[in-house]
Amino acid sequence: MSANTIAVNQQMDRFAGQASVWVFGYGSLIYKVDFPYLERRPASIVGWSRRFWQGSHDHRGTPAAPGRVVTIIADAGAVCHGMAYLITPSVFEHLDYREKNGYLRVAVEIGFDDADGHADGIADKSAAEGVVYVAREDNEAFLGAASEEEIARHIAGAAGPSGPNSDYLTQLAVALRELGKQDDHVFAIEQYLVELIDSGKPK
Ligand code: SIN
Repeated sequence: MSANTIAVNQQMDRFAGQASVWVFGYGSLIYKVDFPYLERRPASIVGWSRRFWQGSHDHRGTPAAPGRVVTIIADAGAVCHGMAYLITPSVFEHLDYREKNGYLRVAVEIGFDDADGHADGIADKSAAEGVVYVAREDNEAFLGAASEEEIARHIAGAAGPSGPNSDYLTQLAVALRELGKQDDHVFAIEQYLVELIDSGKPK
């Protein structure tokens, strides 16, 4: 059985009493928005790198054959780009369920990439405290580092209840490009996956 983080996340009271909370998404939360939100803004967090080091038992793989999905790893000076959503606290029930395979809610400073970008000329808040779901190295589903080529090979062969693992990678890469953001790790794995698929095609 894989560990389930729902009960631990329900204890998180850092933002208790607030009518709304910012949540920073850096993986599927960028492109699969199956929850209501009050506001959405492109954003980034400093000191974290996105890595395909987390195993997925419930979405892009199974307990017997986990897929590989992203988590964030503490990395001084690094910037991780994604999307921030302002939600009401009731939405955490859905998010905790969706992220239950190893992800814990962690408080983080979220910087908004679109500050001052509004047409009304009123400067927006440029940062806010919020929540990010982090799969730490000590969770049971954590797989850890591998070369980007190995990760692509792993992803090419995995699938779970939410679909092929390759769709997770491709949709994340597309979403990052739409945001105009570079991520060497994600794009290198995507390139290896394309090469793998091409090499398997009949000539
Ligand atoms: C996230 O997107 O922020 C967490 C990881 C995931 O659900 O892919």
